[in-house]
Amino acid sequence: MSEPLIPADLIHRLRSARRVAVLTGAGISAESGVPTFREAQTGLWAQYNPEELATPDAFRRNPQLVWDWYIWRQERVRLAEPNPGHLALVEMERRIADFTLITQNVDGLHRRAGSHQILELHGNLFRAKCFSEDCPVENPPLESGEIPPRCPQCGGLLRPDVVWFGEMLPANILRAAEQAATQAEVFFSIGTSALVYPAADLPFTALTAGAMVVEINPQPTPLSPHVTFSLNGAAGVVLPALIAQTWGIVA
Ligand code: OAD
Repeated sequence: MSEPLIPADLIHRLRSARRVAVLTGAGISAESGVPTFREAQTGLWAQYNPEELATPDAFRRNPQLVWDWYIWRQERVRLAEPNPGHLALVEMERRIADFTLITQNVDGLHRRAGSHQILELHGNLFRAKCFSEDCPVENPPLESGEIPPRCPQCGGLLRPDVVWFGEMLPANILRAAEQAATQAEVFFSIGTSALVYPAADLPFTALTAGAMVVEINPQPTPLSPHVTFSLNGAAGVVLPALIAQTWGIVA
């Protein structure tokens, strides 16, 4: 299969761009075998909707069940590897003076791929925080066997450090993402259904500020009619082609 042809105007703009921002969603991890949100849950978890597990009330009702779900997701992500889409964004970061990677994903695959300037809008599966004090705890003591794990500071319950339905996003990270969207010359929306706010606002912030906005997704989304270029394909195919045709290299 020949590689997708990247629009010449996009290539030209990227070659001279100083500030680029990228928003990614679950779709960029799909080719790593990590299911997207809109795909049905599998196995034991098929009986649950994420909305029934990823909420403070669900955690209060049954912290053990919620932690079992997150530990299952951690195990699935540990088995996954960054794919060519993640690696292409690492290369783009090397080529752009002021590059910001904004992700809705909590799987940590962008960091494992080698990206550095990452804004995790929805948190990270592998971090925990105290359910009552909200203080972060890196590498929570999950191996010690006690589930749900206890906060080393106050002895209360630890919770996954991810944004649950109905919760606010970390204000400082959202502010940095909005600033990156406002200043970007080129803004990419990759592998996201563009349905969940405030993340879904960011491409429109970039459009309003005059950026060239590019969507990469095999399916149309509510953002598609508004973007400068809509590249209909898998991130793991389109992004390496974009890097190769823009900078003449294979990421
Ligand atoms: P979704 O599952 O809503 O959307 C995934 C998108 O990826 C869809 O538009 C697919 O068409 C697209 N897609 C699938 N395979 C792809 C591929 N190989 N390359 C590119 N795109 C592909 O996931 P998100 O948009 O990330 O929020 O969901 C946004 C938020 O909704 C999540 O962060 C989560 C959820 O509620 C929180 O957890 C707070």
